[in-house]
Amino acid sequence: MGAYLCKVQPVILAIESSCDDTAAAVLSGGHILSNVTFSQEIHAKYGGVVPELASRAHQTRIIHVVREAIDRAQIGRHQLSAIACTVGPGLMGSLLVGVSFAKGLAISLDIPLIAVHHLQAHVLSPLASVSPPEFPYLCLLVSGGHTQIVRVNGPLDQEVLGTTLDDAAGEAFDKAGKLLGLRYPAGPEIDHLSRSGRPVYAFPHPRLEGYAFSFSGIKTAIRYFLRDQTALDPDFIRDHLPDICASVQHHIVVNLLENLERAATDTGLTRMALAGGVAANSHLRQSFRDLGLRKGWQTHIPEMALSTDNAAMIGLVGHFKFLQGQWADLSVRADPRLPFMAVPASNPG
Ligand code: KG4
Ligand code: ZN
Repeated sequence: MGAYLCKVQPVILAIESSCDDTAAAVLSGGHILSNVTFSQEIHAKYGGVVPELASRAHQTRIIHVVREAIDRAQIGRHQLSAIACTVGPGLMGSLLVGVSFAKGLAISLDIPLIAVHHLQAHVLSPLASVSPPEFPYLCLLVSGGHTQIVRVNGPLDQEVLGTTLDDAAGEAFDKAGKLLGLRYPAGPEIDHLSRSGRPVYAFPHPRLEGYAFSFSGIKTAIRYFLRDQTALDPDFIRDHLPDICASVQHHIVVNLLENLERAATDTGLTRMALAGGVAANSHLRQSFRDLGLRKGWQTHIPEMALSTDNAAMIGLVGHFKFLQGQWADLSVRADPRLPFMAVPASNPG
């Protein structure tokens, strides 16, 4: 095993399959050579990710996605130093496909396997942006499955300061969209419709301890709001859709940024990053930048291909773990509820 540590420019193949994106990437010395993502469209008509369909789709796509990542990187399989893969958290069936595939390939190429925590990878994604933040920084991670404020002290030294008690921010967008009759995932359409609306409706604002979030209340509040309004005017949703969307969006963004601002004040940190699919939201991006200007923060938002689920971010963690000789035992298991800093049995040297 010691020989692996001598390679200063490890070439890492990374595989991500925790939810509904089948993704593979190749990194050399921490630089992204390729980043291929196949987003499964099949879930749209069901209004959410169907786990069984997700794992089946991973099963059929993974070989093509991995091959394409290696081809685009213009390397040969035998140049790979290690394989990094997401082992959790996520959907069990989806994780199993990626983990099993990665194990098989690692055995056949006789190279180490590196186990990666999906959220720890998300919060490192800003490092791959054009102007990466220096450590330490705070990362606001917002996606369909996660909402967290993480203090990133170093590549493998991260601390969750706040998390959601129930729904994630993207889930709140998606559930609100469902009530409004929008297609899944509704976040992008709410963003689009909000541009011609104003945030004229207010929803109750949860006051929580520390930097915790709660987004399940907004769904209930919208449901009752729509029930009352449509009782008075059956066309209420149709006639006021942009304003309703802008109000929902504003509510979510204010909640997110209030916590971030408090975390920044309390920690004294001034480097801030956004990550996750909801980082695509134009109102969040603008409000984050505006707040940063007012507060004197350095703000970092990775490009979207690195912000949504992708394998390049898995490769980044893989890169740093490789340099420290942290690889996984081949008996490592996929864990749908893997706790944040619980890294599966690593085996230096
Ligand atoms: O990171 P991601 O691609 O997948 C995971 O959930 O891990 O995030 C997807 C989420 C969905 O909930 C989607 O509605 C939301 O990101 N999203 C948006 C926007 N684009 C995607 N939410 C608000 N505004 C957007 N422009
Ligand atoms: Zn994710």
